[in-house]
Amino acid sequence: MTIKYGKYEIDNGLYLAPMEDVSDYPFRMICKKLGADVVYSEFISSEALIREAEKAFKKMTIKPEEHPIGIQIYGNRIEAMVEAAQIAADKGPDFIDINFGCPVKKVALKGAGSGLLQDVPKMIAMCEAVARAVELPVTAKTRLGWDHKAIEIVEIARQMEAVGIEALALHGRTRAQGYKGEADWEWIARVKEAVNIPVIGNGDITEPRQAVEAFEKYKVDAVMIGRGAIHNPWIFRDAKHYRETGEIAPPPSLEERIDLLLEHLRMSVEYKGERRGVIEMRKHTSGYLKGLPHIARFRSQLVQTDRLDETEEMLLSLKENKMIRDAVKDIEQRHRHKQQPGGDEVITCCATEEE
Ligand SMILES: Cc1cc2nc3c(=O)[nH]c(=O)nc-3n(C[C@H](O)[C@H](O)[C@H](O)COP(=O)(O)O)c2cc1C
Repeated sequence: MTIKYGKYEIDNGLYLAPMEDVSDYPFRMICKKLGADVVYSEFISSEALIREAEKAFKKMTIKPEEHPIGIQIYGNRIEAMVEAAQIAADKGPDFIDINFGCPVKKVALKGAGSGLLQDVPKMIAMCEAVARAVELPVTAKTRLGWDHKAIEIVEIARQMEAVGIEALALHGRTRAQGYKGEADWEWIARVKEAVNIPVIGNGDITEPRQAVEAFEKYKVDAVMIGRGAIHNPWIFRDAKHYRETGEIAPPPSLEERIDLLLEHLRMSVEYKGERRGVIEMRKHTSGYLKGLPHIARFRSQLVQTDRLDETEEMLLSLKENKMIRDAVKDIEQRHRHKQQPGGDEVITCCATEEE
């Protein structure tokens, strides 16, 4: 089923999941560049938006290249959510998403995020009020339930559809699970079968092949990737390559990795200022370099500076490091070999053990 966000129509989309402190403007741009079809802001508190908190407003920065993009809001008071949706809609997103999935105590135990899974009538009333309050499509993202005792997600999804929610992103875990155990995609498939709105499946996709297979196996309308993209934003490009060719894409070259890191780093510094920009890049740096041989020592040097010029210099020097270059060539050769008939084709971009 095609998912429509105003003038945008998305078929078999690969979505970047909303992630606090991760899916900010620089990372969204990186993932877009590598093939993410739809992105979301980090979640934003409705109360903070109403208070006009600067940090909350900054999270709504949208650049023209990011469309289609949703702004995700959360909260416990319906009136505040309505007002926040109107404020967010003015910032020019293509849709407003309501977060009913956040499991963290300071959100869920205050009756927001996944907390609303314990008060379904209020959850549905919130969906209806927000959907009525803005002209943009309103979507929701949630989990299977509060815990395994009572999974009512099929009924919840039907009710959401009835009150005007236009698409549902479903993480296949309960709130009680947090991030433990495995995402249960069978439940996602059951929900998909039960409703007429598009369903976006989410949970534990870390390999391109899994993303492609999720469409076939669970019949979802889109696949959303979170943690699997933090360390490997190439997953979007590689999943599309796999879908189109049936082949596993070669791992990103050393140059590609460093160039992407530099691009991300510079955007991060421009967006957050030098010190914060450099420090916050670290959660991505180790992932982008993961799998490269002899890299651990280099990584520990990188975390010792919070200066852009020094970081850039170190990254550029990595490109010239013969030992690493040779080892990367070796990885590439093994990939080619494994792609040949009879070769074991299961190889990822991070196939080599670190030192
Ligand atoms: C660091 C981090 C921050 C997150 N922040 C949000 C958020 O702001 N809004 C939201 O709906 N989900 C948030 N999530 C949940 C993800 O969107 C996603 O549902 C979850 O990570 C499962 O998908 P995955 O297995 O592909 O990571 C966050 C997850 C992580 C790891």
